[in-house]
Amino acid sequence: MTTLLNSLRNPTEIPSSKAPYLLQLSSFILDPIAYLEAGFARSDVFWVYAPMRAIIAASPEAVRQVFAEPEETFGVVENFADSVRFIFGGDGSIAMASGEEYLRQRQMLLPAFRGERMKTCRELVCQVTRSLLDGKRKIVTEEVAREITVATILSFTFGSFEGERYQTIAREFMFQLGLIETPLKAIQLFNPFLQVFSGTYRKWLRSREIFFEEVAAEIRERRQAGVGDQGDILSILMQESETNQEIYCQVMTLLFAGREPTSYTLTWILYWVSTIPEVKDKLLAEIDSGEDFRSLPYLDAVIKEALRIYPPPYIFGPRKTKFPFKLLDWELEPNTVIYPSPYLIHHREEIYPEPEKFRPERFLERHFTPYEYIPFGGGHRSCIGMALALFELKLAIGTILSEYNVELADKRPVRAIRRGAVLGPEKFELLVEPR
Ligand code: HEM
Repeated sequence: MTTLLNSLRNPTEIPSSKAPYLLQLSSFILDPIAYLEAGFARSDVFWVYAPMRAIIAASPEAVRQVFAEPEETFGVVENFADSVRFIFGGDGSIAMASGEEYLRQRQMLLPAFRGERMKTCRELVCQVTRSLLDGKRKIVTEEVAREITVATILSFTFGSFEGERYQTIAREFMFQLGLIETPLKAIQLFNPFLQVFSGTYRKWLRSREIFFEEVAAEIRERRQAGVGDQGDILSILMQESETNQEIYCQVMTLLFAGREPTSYTLTWILYWVSTIPEVKDKLLAEIDSGEDFRSLPYLDAVIKEALRIYPPPYIFGPRKTKFPFKLLDWELEPNTVIYPSPYLIHHREEIYPEPEKFRPERFLERHFTPYEYIPFGGGHRSCIGMALALFELKLAIGTILSEYNVELADKRPVRAIRRGAVLGPEKFELLVEPR
């Protein structure tokens, strides 16, 4: 190992932007895609200074090397963990666990995502989708997508989304999400100096308190009533978690991780379908065939292509090397932070010709390796909710297109912009009428 590493190049030779830190930070906040593309124009791997000093990995081989490593190769990045702790309300979220504790939490949550548990969401997704579109002539697409995904994730977590308690949980959760999404408000939350003076920070704390009080009341009532497994995530967490604090954090994590990327993907699909007539025609022909929405190849390809062109997590969570680590030709020192970037990999011309073009057929024509197509990550930290997200997207899109005709209200192109920690579309409206 040592001999091999000795023949490798020094990471100080990895290309890096010469722009001052503040300029890099503002460009990362305001236009993360342009920021990443500027680095990618120099090399497959490059140094950035924002969000922290780190290497962006944008080649399938580099991603393969990261995914192939055992969990213990990478350690926690402390300031990332602090942000996660802050957003999710303390210790206990799978997103910041590592080592043995991470493996325990992953094993605990996995059974919740088995097929039979997801089936219970089937009727719900179709019903909620219909209730949001019925009688409407025009919709703000992301608001409808948000309602569908919130209802699904709440039902999956608590067994229901109706009733005062779940509505309160949803309201407070959405309020917190709204604060994080706006850079100016988010700064007031994360900066300890601004926190002291900020009304936004006090509102945030109050909202989180209400959220946790409602989850605590639900746990208390279920324990008092001696309720067993209700087929939802809360049941699993109540059986397996060591503390209530862990339950709160995991619930918050699943709501955050499960809602935003699914909601933006649904919004993007409705945009692409309304923009490209050939895609809409092919999809309608398939949906109208009466086959189960879950087994339609073109619908599957449309979803894959939407996740390729704008993967909501455009960079993954940071990995910090604990030992000397070989990345392509470079020998990285311990404590080097790496961010694999699905956005950059998904826009490599040699893998995806005309990468800016929305063309679902590419997924019917060839197979992509798990390092070339990575919207759900890979290796040990791959997305635990992938099957649920795909199930939900297929049902929602299938229901909408089989029952309604959708058109863009305004033909202007929609851009991908920063939405909190992920990438999402600008707001746009759709005209809706029953088919
Ligand atoms: C289109 C929808 C979704 C996309 C594109 C997506 C993408 C991702 C990605 C890329 C990661 C890995 C991040 C990394 O390696 O640092 C991840 C992790 C995760 N996702 Fe998703 N996700 C989606 C939906 C969901 C849903 C519906 C849930 C749950 C209900 C969920 C729960 C999680 C959790 C808990 C993790 C952390 C897993 C771990 O650290 O072991 N995601 N997701």
